[in-house]
Amino acid sequence: MSPSNRPIGVFDSGLGGLTVLKALQQLLPQENTVYLGDLARLPYGNKSAEVVCRYAQEAAAFLLGHSIKLLVVACNTASALALEGLQKRLSIPVVGVIVPGAQQAAKHTRNGRIAVLGTLGTIRSKAYHRALLDIQPSLCVFAQPCPLFVPLVEEGWLQGEVTTLVARHYIQPVIEFGADTVVLGCTHYPLLAPTLEAVLCPEVQLVDSAVATAQHVSTLLRLHALCANTPQASHLCFVTDEPERFAQQAERFLGHPLSNILLCRL
Ligand code: DGL
Repeated sequence: MSPSNRPIGVFDSGLGGLTVLKALQQLLPQENTVYLGDLARLPYGNKSAEVVCRYAQEAAAFLLGHSIKLLVVACNTASALALEGLQKRLSIPVVGVIVPGAQQAAKHTRNGRIAVLGTLGTIRSKAYHRALLDIQPSLCVFAQPCPLFVPLVEEGWLQGEVTTLVARHYIQPVIEFGADTVVLGCTHYPLLAPTLEAVLCPEVQLVDSAVATAQHVSTLLRLHALCANTPQASHLCFVTDEPERFAQQAERFLGHPLSNILLCRL
């Protein structure tokens, strides 16, 4: 296979990275993809940096075994904690979701006050903080960990009384801070967008890094002369546990059923 027709590898701790996969497939329909969801070890969001880095290395090694030409770390927690290590070790381009999300947020804000919602690991790492201040040092950044959001999404509780109550709890300090832009700094959170929009002031802009990440991948592929020219792209999907449950939930993320889900071991 020519180097440019090798697949793009995408990994997440579970389902959430499918939002990035969907954006990639929409923007780059000619690209082959291999997705890995590490369901057996989800969540990454409340694990230590050391453990997340090890998991990320193992996921990358698995995808490299499928001859990927570029790796997308479609998990905010892994991007926050393990991206630099992966970029140093691997000889292929490695893309995370944090810088593209931060760039989009910096572009959107009018009052310079940006809130970031994320898992404990992402917020503790201050990765968004650094990325935003690198782009524009005058920005004011407020970081809010939202550890209950991932289990709510995993259970399919995207709306309703309980989810709204939890959202209000996390969003109240964001409102007090006066953010006009809120980064959904976790792959699961875009599914909660309707609930978050109902709780936030209407003029607040939500930023989902999936589309910005896909655009960044497209730029990198052109830069490295790695754009595919396959007539019919192929998409493989691996999970480390519960392929049937993944298939059911994947439909919610992608808006269409996903076939060919294979069980693997890392
Ligand atoms: N994918 C993770 C993230 O974007 C959320 C789920 C988890 O905690 O593993 O941070």
